[in-house]
Amino acid sequence: MTVDDAQQFQHADPAQNQTVGIVGWRGMVGSVLMQRMQEEGDFSKLNPVFFSTSSPGAPAPSFSSAEDNGVLQDAYDIQALAKLPVIITTQGGDYTKKVHPQLRETGWDGIWIDAASTLRMSADSLIVLDPINRPAIDAGLRDGIRDFIGGNCTVSCMLMGLGGLFTAGLIEWGTAMTYQAASGGGAKHMRELLSGFGTLHQSVADELADPSSAILEIDRKVLASQRDGSMDTTEFEVPLAGSLIPWIDSELDGGVSREEWKGGAETNKILGRTAESERIPFDSICVRIGALRSHSQALTLKLTRDVPLDEITDLIEQSNPWSKVVPNTKEATMQELTPVAVSGDMTIPVGRLRKMQMGPEYLSAFTVGDQLLWGAAEPVRRMLMIATGNL
Ligand code: HSE
Repeated sequence: MTVDDAQQFQHADPAQNQTVGIVGWRGMVGSVLMQRMQEEGDFSKLNPVFFSTSSPGAPAPSFSSAEDNGVLQDAYDIQALAKLPVIITTQGGDYTKKVHPQLRETGWDGIWIDAASTLRMSADSLIVLDPINRPAIDAGLRDGIRDFIGGNCTVSCMLMGLGGLFTAGLIEWGTAMTYQAASGGGAKHMRELLSGFGTLHQSVADELADPSSAILEIDRKVLASQRDGSMDTTEFEVPLAGSLIPWIDSELDGGVSREEWKGGAETNKILGRTAESERIPFDSICVRIGALRSHSQALTLKLTRDVPLDEITDLIEQSNPWSKVVPNTKEATMQELTPVAVSGDMTIPVGRLRKMQMGPEYLSAFTVGDQLLWGAAEPVRRMLMIATGNL
């Protein structure tokens, strides 16, 4: 399918394979998106046109044996983009900032699906997480919303796990203490974390090989490596391996990080609680830790009433096919509620559920989700299939 052929497909029609522009398919989130689309057989239901910011004219990729996708189109060619009824991008915020306004200025009223945060809080956009807000997405499509944006990874993973309690109107307020993986920063951040572990290991390899070496000497040498500049800190600015960083993204007023602000703002927008009087107060401390690709969070939720734990369990499990309650035991928690257990998996486990000492309306919970699946690629993949009449 070429861009020119695409002009005949201007409206979503389930009977007709829709033409979609795909930008940013080679990056980390884009690669996970392509993988998920292959797994779900999405390419057999679409006519993809692949764009590139760096190598237009090179052969386009083929993600199913039946396709010949011609050559890569120029991702900055506004006229080419404007011929498409649907565009999905995982190219990143700078691309969105540059291209989206130019495209809309041409009068293009196609559907823009985007994983970047740039347009999330725009009054003209919806944040997509269809297992939680499908009615709002359907209403938006009917009412002329054209920008559908994937949410912040921590927010999407939290709502995939605990959304059932929010949509049942049971949450008066909440806090999330997050434990966010290196992948949230990007591929280079993952590499830096692993290299950091390597540097630390090398600094004490001899002592580790000797079971009788003094642990305090090992500790001293590791700390020296973390402080003497021998670790690469290009991406995180300070060592992450063997440490943590309790600040993610830029500084906003009031001592809040942008990541923490997103927690409250995006949660409420996804839930359709945009009026001040409807907002659920939701506060966080967001912390980067040495996990690779799954974000975890410990929540305190103030319930609107005393709801028994078995009802809470049912609401969580019935919310969507991916949320799952892990029994609050040591064994189940260690086996099922860790980044190692969930990475690469669509399941969003929720555990450590118990009423807190403050009273029966205070619920403690812990949840983990793959930051690249439900945290990034999956909500926009599903939106693509909704927009093209396939879901
Ligand atoms: N802002 C997130 C993080 C990335 O840094 O972990 C996913 O939205």
